[in-house]
Amino acid sequence: MAYFEKVLKDPVHDTIVVDDPWIWRLINASSVQRLRRIRQLGTSYLTFHGAEHSRFTHSLGAYETMRRVLEQLKAEFGWPVDDRDRRLALAVALLHDIGHGPFSHTFESIYPVHHEHWTRRIILEDAELASILAEVDHQLGHDLVGILEKKDGHPLIQQLITSQLDVDRMDYLLRDALITGVSYGRFELNRILRSLALHDGQLLLKASALHTVEQYILARYFMYTQVYLHPVTVGSDVLVRQILLRAGELWREGRLADMPLELRVFVDEEGPSVSVADYLAVDESTLLYAFRIWTRAGDKVLSDLAQRFLNRRLFAPIVLPAEPSQEQWAHLRTAARALGLHPDYYVSGRESAIAGYVYLGQGISILRPDGSVSELSRESRIVRSLVPDTEYRLFLPKEMIEGEGPVCERVRSVLKLP
Ligand code: NI
Repeated sequence: MAYFEKVLKDPVHDTIVVDDPWIWRLINASSVQRLRRIRQLGTSYLTFHGAEHSRFTHSLGAYETMRRVLEQLKAEFGWPVDDRDRRLALAVALLHDIGHGPFSHTFESIYPVHHEHWTRRIILEDAELASILAEVDHQLGHDLVGILEKKDGHPLIQQLITSQLDVDRMDYLLRDALITGVSYGRFELNRILRSLALHDGQLLLKASALHTVEQYILARYFMYTQVYLHPVTVGSDVLVRQILLRAGELWREGRLADMPLELRVFVDEEGPSVSVADYLAVDESTLLYAFRIWTRAGDKVLSDLAQRFLNRRLFAPIVLPAEPSQEQWAHLRTAARALGLHPDYYVSGRESAIAGYVYLGQGISILRPDGSVSELSRESRIVRSLVPDTEYRLFLPKEMIEGEGPVCERVRSVLKLP
């Protein structure tokens, strides 16, 4: 192979090195470039103003982390043996998020489109991407999909992309922590990479890195509780959901004049008829443009919700010990109506689940100095103490709880707010 090298600057890894022209062609495929127009953290930028980074940036970071892992494993353990495995691992890291849509999880909850379904279809059906992958061989795309869908074959690459300690998480935790400014999300990536070991065909972590991996697990825990599940962010997702639901309903009833062409296929029809090209044509610029034109919609609910989102007049999150009772819901809906707010769109709640450390089936294996293998939660009391938790959040317009008058007072008393 002729000498080839591209070096990209990166805030997390300092540099991202592309030494294979085939990888460079993948990076430049339009389905990968599209990820520049999808934010990595969805609506989190409304909570943490720095969180404007894209899934493209994270995909490059996951690629670079994988590249460094492979360099380390090759030097110490002689794996990967061949160039095809190396390319497969690097492509998996680069393409693992290719199926994500705009405001991913919210979009998926409304339309019958699941990002994992789209990952598969884009890799196998997008002509440009498929032809680059086929330069290696015709099986490569299927192997990629198999790894991302956790099917049999290539267990090591699978562990490196989808496990509790994979290149995806390692990059997004560091990147999201740096960019949001949440310093307790940091951990020592280089130390973890240096401590990886291969043993009986399994990826393990040397026991000497125990405290470093504890730091990583805690970083992950803090990022979930403080950033990913931040009540303001979840409330912003709820607002996006309400806008899309209302717009879809109006469109199907013939009561909405403006619906961008790219969105019609999702609103009009059932999921399976959406083509790969249709799906790739939608990104966050499409949705933000739609929200802009809907601020002028004749429907008061839709125009108000769209204005709230664009001008960041978000729903107020109220953390409750449990989901409100039927009686409390009824009171809240009545209060919304009394204030001229449609209860279906202005009164909602959500349970957020905070994961602990899950070791069943796929924990982090620790290689002890005597050569025996243990599981992280058996070795670490800190990790054992992280148990899953849930929190219920109610989302209401601020004027429902902060306003004067008997209706707002009633809302405050129903929710036992001061
Ligand atoms: Ni990812």
